[in-house]
Amino acid sequence: MKSLSAQDEAKRAAAEKAIEAFLKDGMIVGLGSGTTSRWFVRILGDKVKEGLKVVGVPSSKSTKELAQEVGVALAELNDVQELDLTIDGADEIDPEGRMIKGGGANLLWEKIVATASRTMVAIVDESKAVKQLGKFPLPVEIVQFGWRSTERHMSQLFKSEGYGDTEMTVRGGLERPLITDSGNFILDCHLQAIANPDSLVVQLNRIAGVVENGLFIGIAKSAVVGRTDSPAEVIHFPVK
Ligand code: 5RP
Repeated sequence: MKSLSAQDEAKRAAAEKAIEAFLKDGMIVGLGSGTTSRWFVRILGDKVKEGLKVVGVPSSKSTKELAQEVGVALAELNDVQELDLTIDGADEIDPEGRMIKGGGANLLWEKIVATASRTMVAIVDESKAVKQLGKFPLPVEIVQFGWRSTERHMSQLFKSEGYGDTEMTVRGGLERPLITDSGNFILDCHLQAIANPDSLVVQLNRIAGVVENGLFIGIAKSAVVGRTDSPAEVIHFPVK
């Protein structure tokens, strides 16, 4: 078997530690999306084979497929009450637990699942832990209808917030744009450094045509950071 990269080892270590520290028998669990979450779902599948009883609520079509493959029992979000826990990856996470998500284009369902949960735990390798959000382009999910107009309004917002002329790219390119699980486009916004994530998260969602943005603020209660040279670290964020 091909050996894992150091980063993949760190992702797997974060997923393993999160299961050990947060997951309990009988829980209804939100299943994140992305490569780190795929480790989590695979390891969860192993635990289920060993006798763990959980019900998973997937945050994307691809996670649903993987969970079915590895034998995790699933439920629709509509058919359960509050979830006990969601475990999901992130593209960036700052010292306050604020995150950028959506690198895998699943931010909308991920935010719905995470905010339906009593506890959300982020699982990341150490490269995702940053002082300030924004180097990773902020994904914003927008409806296809009139998307150029939505883009213009977003551009005006970024200008008025002091970001200057912000480069925005349609995920997948104009020829064959990526279509999300909900049938929308993703605009990746190259902001470089986000000085005001707490207000930007609200302002972006006020624009007609914006469905949801990839800023996850006040959602993660804890994070597990997988490291290449030491054991995965559990971090708890102060409740505001
Ligand atoms: C998908 C996400 C992912 O959680 C995020 O992109 C991190 O992915 P990975 O674990 O592959 O680095 O938000 O929309």
